[in-house]
Amino acid sequence: MGKWAIVYSSVTGNTKKIAEAMAEAVGEDCDLFRVQDAPEDVSGYDVVLLGYWLRLGAPDPLMLTYLPKVHGTRVCFFQTHGTAPTSEHAITSFARAGYRLGEGCEILGTFGCRGKIREEMLARRKNAAPDDPHGGEKSKERWRLASTHPDAGDEADAKAFIAAMRRKLAYKEKYLAARAAKQAALRQAHDRD
Ligand SMILES: Cc1cc2nc3c(=O)[nH]c(=O)nc-3n(C[C@H](O)[C@H](O)[C@H](O)COP(=O)(O)O)c2cc1C
Repeated sequence: MGKWAIVYSSVTGNTKKIAEAMAEAVGEDCDLFRVQDAPEDVSGYDVVLLGYWLRLGAPDPLMLTYLPKVHGTRVCFFQTHGTAPTSEHAITSFARAGYRLGEGCEILGTFGCRGKIREEMLARRKNAAPDDPHGGEKSKERWRLASTHPDAGDEADAKAFIAAMRRKLAYKEKYLAARAAKQAALRQAHDRD
């Protein structure tokens, strides 16, 4: 396994917590950067994990600015958000991250979990009208569910995600090597005929 980089953006610490759990799972072959300190060129890394928080249903502004600089490498996205990880809102955000990436990237996998929303934001949204996307009982329930995350389960899931990405890479390399060997054998047979 080559060198991995983790670049994350975090204001209140939720995404940072997940980034650190992932870095622990990757081990010593990992460089961990805040997006503010991340290298301009990460194409030398074997895998680059890009973590951000959701704002307006998309990666946060700092990560949106960084994504186009990432090119020619394998990428995983991870995100934290107030919404449920399986919601359309969360899943669409991965697509929004993907189309901001620079050229020649391969998206290896995605991970998302809830992250508590900071108090000032909740206070501002408390009196939102029921027809506002941040108003009504459904929003309050969403905030309640997010309020304890990321928790130990999310950190364990983040570590399991790293193990899954390693397995995926290993299967892929095995498959590509087998395919290359088959093609070489076919070419040899063709040359003999
Ligand atoms: C200004 C602002 C906008 C947000 N917009 C969204 C959003 O569109 N969708 C969502 O699910 N969560 C949204 N959230 C919640 C954050 O994405 C969530 O709390 C995240 O875990 C914060 O990550 P951090 O602690 O790493 O900064 C928003 C939070 C703030 C403060």
